[in-house]
Amino acid sequence: MFKQSVFVFSLLLFTLLSLPVYSSEETEEEVTEPVEIDLDLGEEINEVCAGCHGEFGQGGKGGEYPRLAGLPAGYIAHQIKLFKEEKRKNMPMRPYANDRELPDEDIPSIAAYLSQIKLTTKMPEFDENTTAYEKLLIAKKVFNIARVEGDVELGKELYVDDCKLCHGKNGKGKEGSDTPPLSGQYTEYMTRQIKHFATGERWHEYAEDLFEEMEPEEIQAIMAYLSTTDD
Ligand code: HEC
Ligand code: HEC
Repeated sequence: MFKQSVFVFSLLLFTLLSLPVYSSEETEEEVTEPVEIDLDLGEEINEVCAGCHGEFGQGGKGGEYPRLAGLPAGYIAHQIKLFKEEKRKNMPMRPYANDRELPDEDIPSIAAYLSQIKLTTKMPEFDENTTAYEKLLIAKKVFNIARVEGDVELGKELYVDDCKLCHGKNGKGKEGSDTPPLSGQYTEYMTRQIKHFATGERWHEYAEDLFEEMEPEEIQAIMAYLSTTDD
């Protein structure tokens, strides 16, 4: 009995260990030194990023600059590496995402710093002890994606069938996964990315099946649905 359960356990462990990891498919995992995460350093680096992505990583200019706050640290770090290697093209970030300005050993710190920023979608109730300054700071972190036109019901169906597996329930991402959440991200930014996926300019798993054949109204419907998920 005991031996049998040890066998079943080893088999299970073996199966888990041999499951493929999606994200490492396209770039070879490099052998890296143990990394130090320094949130103060992250905050300092963020002063540069803030020029475009906002003080709290909230992004801006109607989605020209994506929201970074709350994205998985592993995802942020991976994208920065892709920018540095020019595997993902990004002209505006070129002067910042290079070895001189952002050495590899600093990436985990800025990624962790941005990842832990929590934006709220609603203004909280204040009590009489809250100072005007505190209110101002809180107000700056209130961020909500405006509803967009489109068939929300159809968008939800498409999302559940084609996207939820990886991007999580209601677009919120998945605990412990480096796949980015889509809820709370700018509509214009995501539509632009989907165009890049469809043309192959940016890599996405199964892009051919997911995006190339999709009608503009279907993408619009998914965006309409996602814009309701952070209300
Ligand atoms: C001059 C403007 C500018 C600055 C400064 C800048 N970025 Fe960006 N960043 C952009 C733009 C534009 C994009 C979106 C590119 C696209 O459309 O694919 C982007 C995209 C990103 C993404 C991808 C987000 C996602 O959801 O995939 C990450 C991560 C990122 N930037 C991190 C940083 C960090 C960290 C810094 C500071 C070291 C920084 N950026 C500084 C303009 C900037
Ligand atoms: C098999 C898993 C998987 C499925 C299914 C999937 N995605 Fe993704 N998606 C990813 C991963 C992983 C990334 C990050 C890609 C990278 O590393 O650059 C991503 C990135 C994205 C991005 C860019 C986010 C950003 O912040 O830049 C958008 C937009 C997106 N997916 C939309 C969709 C939509 C819409 C669907 C359904 C039609 C979908 N995805 C289905 C795994 C998936």
